[in-house]
Amino acid sequence: MTPSSPMIGVGLIGAGRIGTSHAQILAERVPGAQLTMVADTRTDAAGSLADRFGADAVADPLQLIKDNSVEAVVIAASAEAHADLIVACAAAGKPIFCEKPASLTLEESARSLAAVEAAGVILQVGFNRRFARDFRATHDAIVRGAIGMPQLLRSLTRDPGLANPGAVPPWTIFLQTLIHDFDALLWLNPEADPVEVYATADALVAPDFKASGLLDTAIVVITFDNGARAVAEASFSAAYGYDVRAEVFGSAGMVTAGNGARTAMMLRDATGLHQETARGDVELMGDAYAAEFVEFVAAIQQARQPYVTGRDARRALAVALACIESVRTHAPIPIDRSAATLAR
Ligand SMILES: NC(=O)c1ccc[n+]([C@@H]2O[C@H](COP(=O)([O-])OP(=O)(O)OC[C@H]3O[C@@H](n4cnc5c(N)ncnc54)[C@H](O)[C@@H]3O)[C@@H](O)[C@H]2O)c1
Repeated sequence: MTPSSPMIGVGLIGAGRIGTSHAQILAERVPGAQLTMVADTRTDAAGSLADRFGADAVADPLQLIKDNSVEAVVIAASAEAHADLIVACAAAGKPIFCEKPASLTLEESARSLAAVEAAGVILQVGFNRRFARDFRATHDAIVRGAIGMPQLLRSLTRDPGLANPGAVPPWTIFLQTLIHDFDALLWLNPEADPVEVYATADALVAPDFKASGLLDTAIVVITFDNGARAVAEASFSAAYGYDVRAEVFGSAGMVTAGNGARTAMMLRDATGLHQETARGDVELMGDAYAAEFVEFVAAIQQARQPYVTGRDARRALAVALACIESVRTHAPIPIDRSAATLAR
């Protein structure tokens, strides 16, 4: 970035549900970023989103990556496209923000991380919980020793509902939903690596879709090499809205984050005590999405690694893949140590 051009031109790939939210956040809440181009293979979606923010629209993401107006790329396309798009951005030497999961297999992950590291570009992955203020404060309390040694951890995701169960790819609950919880749990147990998982899952929300591979309810036990145990759980249908939480219990105390409330407002009336729950991730996590993009811009401007990287994404993916194997075999599964061990 030259001092005469303080705005970073951002290209967004994927104009679907989260891409639409990211475009608005980039335009309104991230000083230093300017949305210059939107790409989506659905040209109508790219066109209408780009029009809202005065950006250009293209169908081909490779055209966006090469465009001179694009100095950094945000990938919010469907998960199966992520690894190839990361490799293409790295080849063009452009900093990358990629939604989770950054890849769907450890082979794809190795290939895309090698491309990123060889090119020396930034790769930040969309684990937005790390940027939610209560989750960050929880993490910081653990790091400064406020709860002693973490022993029991829990993390959960409850989604408000399945709009279209037939369109959900198999194993989404582990690869795209619980992957947030896996990243949170690894981050909240910072001195340890995960060694084994046991996972069980079912279709309680949309049982008619179980035969085609949809699992909508899952629980996972993770064992860490410092002896700590963690539980992660997810449901695709919470009647009350979107809800993400974490709790870490240690030798000297306990710390919690998240309560599913849209704001801290509490109403007391003749019928009792009321709080407004969030109807979706965009509503509950809006501030965290904004903060993760502020971090992305800062990492680019300061030429440093972002707070959450492709290496973190690989660790969480290793846990998710072991969960799939555990459900298939009904057995505890060791986690691939080469992928899940963090250099400390
Ligand atoms: N961090 C979060 O909280 C969060 C929340 C929601 C979704 N996500 C992730 O974001 C990604 C997108 O999710 P979504 O809910 O927006 O999905 P979506 O289906 O609503 O949108 C995906 C869009 O990508 C487009 N697309 C697919 N392949 C493409 C390609 N090769 N080039 C250009 N465009 C392409 C599709 O046409 C579609 O418009 C997923 O990986 C999902 O897991 C993350």
